[in-house]
Amino acid sequence: MSTKQPNPSSSGQSTNIVWHDGEVNRADRAKVLGHDGCTLWLTGLSGSGKSTVGVALEKALNSRGVLAYRLDGDNVRHGLNANLGFGADDRKENIRRIGEVAKLFADSGVITISSFISPYQRDRDQVRKIHDDAGLKFLEVFINTPIEICEQRDPKGLYKKARAGEIKGFTGIDDPYQEPKNPEIVVDTGTLSAEQAANELVEALVRHKIISAE
Ligand code: ADX
Repeated sequence: MSTKQPNPSSSGQSTNIVWHDGEVNRADRAKVLGHDGCTLWLTGLSGSGKSTVGVALEKALNSRGVLAYRLDGDNVRHGLNANLGFGADDRKENIRRIGEVAKLFADSGVITISSFISPYQRDRDQVRKIHDDAGLKFLEVFINTPIEICEQRDPKGLYKKARAGEIKGFTGIDDPYQEPKNPEIVVDTGTLSAEQAANELVEALVRHKIISAE
């Protein structure tokens, strides 16, 4: 046996792999579902309302007969990304993995709603790129809630802990959040309820010709 072959369990890279096409394509799947898939990438501070808006949007789409599914930061970190922390490299890997998962879901025909802080523009741009390269629509949605309001809400008590120095590297306190440069949609949760915000996103999906008007 050649000793020059990398050991697949320790090289950290997949080698000698070949893409295997199926016999059912994206258009076939869209026919089954009645709509295309896409990714709505919700980004914003912790406590900005990403998950709440995502939940309301999933409900609104489901009641219109549109298949949607949420990928949520806290939830995904319970399983797939349970081995990642909050340093820049781990946040990058968190977003890389979930970007790939979102792309698979979008390719399957599902309206994929991801709710991750995703604080770095370059990481979000990379997720956009893999969608673009695959011909999949990607809408960056900035949940624009000022840190003062997020901190006031503090639904999980984490800002309090961060201020007390019990959490280091908390986004918006002692870790950066880069606001999206060119998001397709900006949601102002200061003036909109979660349901109103969800309706705006439904309208955006119609505008972008991903789902049809009722
Ligand atoms: S991201 O930065 O990598 O995109 P992600 O959205 O997955 O973050 O997870 C954010 C959630 O983890 C927050 O809503 C909060 O509940 C929790 N959390 C724990 N520690 C931190 C931290 N240091 N910074 C931000 N969020 C944290």
